[in-house]
Amino acid sequence: MSAPNKSYDPVEVEALKPEQIERMRDEALAAFAAADSLDALHEAKVAHTGPTSPLALANREIGALPPHAKADAGKRVGQARGAVNKGLAARQAELEAERDARVLVEEAVDVTLPYDRVPAGARHPLTTMMERVADVFVSMGYEIAEGPEVEAEWFNFDALNFGPDHPARQMQDTFFVQTASNSGSAAGKGADSDGESGVVLRTHTSPVQARAMLDREPPVYVVCPGRVFRTDELDATHTPVFHQIELLAVDEGLTMADLKGTLDHMVQSLFGADMKTRLRPNYFPFTEPSAEMDMLCYVCKGESVGNPDRSCRTCSSEGWIELGGCGMVNPRVLTACGVDPEKYSGFAFGFGIERMLMFRHNVEDMRDMVEGDVRFTRPFGMEI
Ligand code: PHE
Repeated sequence: MSAPNKSYDPVEVEALKPEQIERMRDEALAAFAAADSLDALHEAKVAHTGPTSPLALANREIGALPPHAKADAGKRVGQARGAVNKGLAARQAELEAERDARVLVEEAVDVTLPYDRVPAGARHPLTTMMERVADVFVSMGYEIAEGPEVEAEWFNFDALNFGPDHPARQMQDTFFVQTASNSGSAAGKGADSDGESGVVLRTHTSPVQARAMLDREPPVYVVCPGRVFRTDELDATHTPVFHQIELLAVDEGLTMADLKGTLDHMVQSLFGADMKTRLRPNYFPFTEPSAEMDMLCYVCKGESVGNPDRSCRTCSSEGWIELGGCGMVNPRVLTACGVDPEKYSGFAFGFGIERMLMFRHNVEDMRDMVEGDVRFTRPFGMEI
């Protein structure tokens, strides 16, 4: 700031000359007019109204003027600054209005549009059913065990006491998998086509029994849900890919009574307290003795049997619904899996989830389960 100077004449101070002040004002107004965004306007504002702007610097010179000149110069600068501030405010309002109009367009929400109707999705009823069954056993202290879907033939058959000529190994039941090591025979044919690759798509969840016993020391209590494969055509009652749930218990002193009690507990948990199961003799290479297990029909509770007035669609008036296979683990299987059959015994059972879904929910065609049509899934609820 200049020092006070009595003989100071404002006309002589260059920055305070009227035409200079007018120029500063006009430059400021031109800069505001040229600013095409609020950011640009802010820059122009700093340059033309800030503490180092020409008008602010000119204003400072006033203090150094003699009193008689101060008023004149002060008025001039004050008017110019007033005009600049007004111009700034006007341009600011203009640009803000433009921005608001743009934002309204860009961020417009059409509340009349339909809401997002794409459902978040749901797990397949087979998955939900499998988990529901597995949960029954988890709550009893069983552990979930899983095994590969592409399985060694040894686990799928040999370890489970299937003889080398057991018919289930044949092509009509089992998908053999071509592997890199067997794909280039001299005849140019994959050995898999002869069923000799040694690798299969597992035909049941029972190989997980063998894996579970080899993986752990007894006692073993595992439940094994999973996908299995057989060379069936897809039709109303067959599918080449389906799901099973397997149970294995190995401990000291387990008997068929433990198996029966466990089965009863399972059907009571799933279908109601007045449910029970029955066993019918059967044969499986990996259990001895073996049984087919039936559960009481949960709809008619057996009352439809021999009672034409009360026929039951769910069990075809047979009173019982066939569920799956079970038995005491064959000592040869225990031995093959490193468990001493003198000390331990075990029980196992396995059944198909598709079948259970069919009778529990009156699904009449298995193809509905694989076609992926949400009209099938939706009534089961969106359990995510
Ligand atoms: N794995 C047998 C099947 O697929 C079922 C089963 C499991 C039988 C466990 C006995 C014990 O038919």
